[in-house]
Amino acid sequence: MCGIFGFVGKRTDAAVMAVEGLKSLEYRGYDSWGVAWKEGDHLSHKKEIGKISGVDGHSLCDVSSLAIGHTRWATHGGVTRENAHPQFNEDKTIAVVHNGIFENYQQLRSELRTKGHTFTSDTDTEVAPHLIEEYLKETGDFAHAVRLACKRFTGRYAILAVHAASETLVAARTGSPLIIGVGEGGYFIASDTPAFQAHTRTVQYLDDGEMVITNGKNILFSDIETGGERTKREIEIPVSEAPSDKGDFAHFMLKEIMDQKESIARAVNQSEQEIETIAEAIRNAKGTFLVGCGTAGKACMAAEYFFSVVAEHHVNFAPASEFKLYHHFLKKESLLIVVSQSGETADVLEAMQVAKSKGAKVLSIVNVKGSSIDRASDYTLCINAGPERAVASTKALTGQLAVLLLIAYALVGRLKEGKKLLLETASMINDMLNPRYVERLTQLADRIKRHENLYIIGKSWNYPMALESAIKIQEVSYIHAEGFAGGELKHGPIALIEDGTPCIVLAGRDEVMPDILSNAVQLRARGALIIGVSPEPNEIFDEWIRVPDAASAQAIVNIIPIQVLAYFLAVQRGKDPDMPRNLAKSVTVK
Ligand code: G6P
Repeated sequence: MCGIFGFVGKRTDAAVMAVEGLKSLEYRGYDSWGVAWKEGDHLSHKKEIGKISGVDGHSLCDVSSLAIGHTRWATHGGVTRENAHPQFNEDKTIAVVHNGIFENYQQLRSELRTKGHTFTSDTDTEVAPHLIEEYLKETGDFAHAVRLACKRFTGRYAILAVHAASETLVAARTGSPLIIGVGEGGYFIASDTPAFQAHTRTVQYLDDGEMVITNGKNILFSDIETGGERTKREIEIPVSEAPSDKGDFAHFMLKEIMDQKESIARAVNQSEQEIETIAEAIRNAKGTFLVGCGTAGKACMAAEYFFSVVAEHHVNFAPASEFKLYHHFLKKESLLIVVSQSGETADVLEAMQVAKSKGAKVLSIVNVKGSSIDRASDYTLCINAGPERAVASTKALTGQLAVLLLIAYALVGRLKEGKKLLLETASMINDMLNPRYVERLTQLADRIKRHENLYIIGKSWNYPMALESAIKIQEVSYIHAEGFAGGELKHGPIALIEDGTPCIVLAGRDEVMPDILSNAVQLRARGALIIGVSPEPNEIFDEWIRVPDAASAQAIVNIIPIQVLAYFLAVQRGKDPDMPRNLAKSVTVK
């Protein structure tokens, strides 16, 4: 979702760096982009719909030392050049890029209209430069004007603002991330570190309710509400895999699916002491809640089954966006476990606030150390999957599942047994993901790619995996896919089955296998094409995708062939699996 980049300093290639910085934030998902730079005593800009990947920053400007840039994922107003950021005041002396939502923008718009302001976009963002202009008239101080404007905004946001007559970059955040990069030739400010990793690995984190003012030489952090000064530590971030490195793979999605040969083992090889500490916290909590969004939410839902079957321990799953409606159940002894790949998802951050307001502790399972969720948690466990760039989450999911299953084992004093099972599973997955297996899935994709509807069923932990399978297929291939609990079929969904409708059946060698096979028989009787994903064949499978028998880790192995299938469905239907329409990798709005 929206990416932010800013630079001020003694270098003169600020606009060029802005373009390159935005390119490295492309993975977040966006539909338009824009850059504004200071050239002499005025602000120049360029905004376009579509991708920034082919743009050469030198074509914008080679002589600017102050620039801001933005990749936009439309929320308020369609995908148009007018709605792209930066947004300006009327005389284009103030430019603002913005991530998040100003919830009170309609009220601010009408207030500004009565003062004679006119608006040219449909965005909530556009109120910001106009409001800053009003306060600038009053105070004569740009940074102070930004602070006063920020005090008026409600909602979660991060902004960067510049003024044609000033050499400063002013940024503020409440709810959406902003990270400062301390470079040799100046300061960077971005929504994520890849934007400036080519220039520096020394960072300072802006926290909620804070703003920062820099002219490239000096930097001042302060509290938005009071204006009081804040001090910040400089932190060195580790050298990570180059964000643009997909090796020999055609797409990040395929690379990340294949990364699971190693990433699951990395997730499992956690400090045993840390896992035991978490298990103890769950044991002592009066009510444990699991929340996440999208794919991470499906990991949480699977964990409900892990905790039930492996540990006979009750935990409650809610999609993060629904969690605040559970607040009556929370007390200070409750524990909230949040699961998030990016560590930046707005709905998850809001759920954390709800839990904290009740005094409850928050444990996070993330893939990005230093992310907003990590830093706002009482305790964090990292799944160590490595950077995940494709919008469709793959290796993060299996890392999350592995860690959650490990915790379930630890809860009943069986950590070593759980670890052994998971490491064996990781090794079986390594064997499974061989070229012949991938070719088999390519052929299956070819067989079903022309169908517009596809259904997936599962039971127990395979039920959340059926839901996850549907997400994977929908988001990259745009086939209408839906997942169901096998037993629910007869209560409605079975009416959708026609002759030849592909139906995927996720099974394991477990106590519910007879049930899911009998659900498959019901589908077959209505003419469905049955694709069994199972450790053993069955006569009702028209196609059998063999998976290893992984006992209570079956959810992890069963989802992987579906990831591969979804990838090839996308490619064979001519879609780019790394850039699915309408979606974003990091969803920083509610
Ligand atoms: C977006 C992504 C999904 C992801 C979800 C939650 O919708 O496209 O792949 O599962 O956000 O993201 P998180 O970073 O919190 O796991």
